[in-house]
Amino acid sequence: MNDPFATLDDTQAFVWEKLKTGAEKPGSPAHLLTLATVSKSGAPRVRILVLRAVDVDAKQLILFTHGASEKIEELGGDPRAELLFWDADAALQVRLRARITVSNGDPDEWSAMSVGRRANYAPSPLPGRELERPTLPALSDDASFFRVLTAQVERIETLSLAALPHRRAVFEGSQARWIAP
Ligand SMILES: Cc1cc2nc3c(=O)[nH]c(=O)nc-3n(C[C@H](O)[C@H](O)[C@H](O)COP(=O)(O)O)c2cc1C
Repeated sequence: MNDPFATLDDTQAFVWEKLKTGAEKPGSPAHLLTLATVSKSGAPRVRILVLRAVDVDAKQLILFTHGASEKIEELGGDPRAELLFWDADAALQVRLRARITVSNGDPDEWSAMSVGRRANYAPSPLPGRELERPTLPALSDDASFFRVLTAQVERIETLSLAALPHRRAVFEGSQARWIAP
């Protein structure tokens, strides 16, 4: 069987292919990314986000979020982040080191979204606010809290457990190397 992790080049190509598929296919391994940021106090914070788009040439990942969520304030203080996914079929862990910039989404992204989806970015109730009881967000056409996160990937680390020896690799700029698992 073809070994997708036989070479460093193959390994890196596999990661970007998985990311592209992740943005296109719900249920694929990279569709949900765990995003780690640094809080104001320096403590780590993690949560899951949907991968919305990938620009392989620019090494950029696009995610959407609510402008009043804590991660926005955290990224304002420190844009460094890590993103992670696990591909169970390939037995591959992928860690992505990135810098994230926050922008107001462009109007095309907003209009491409269903009304139900837009409710994720509704002005009320704001994320994290205390509620008397769980409440559906109001359906809203107000895009003022819609934010796009652009993760500029600076370093990729893979750990393949598919065969012995396990293989761990690092990709940074144009450099690629194997390291001990
Ligand atoms: C399967 C799943 C998908 C999610 N997708 C997103 C997403 O695309 N964007 C987002 O902001 N939050 C998403 N969330 C919610 C976040 O994990 C998190 O709870 C929320 O954004 C608040 O995070 P914060 O307080 O750290 O900013 C998702 C949660 C789950 C369980």
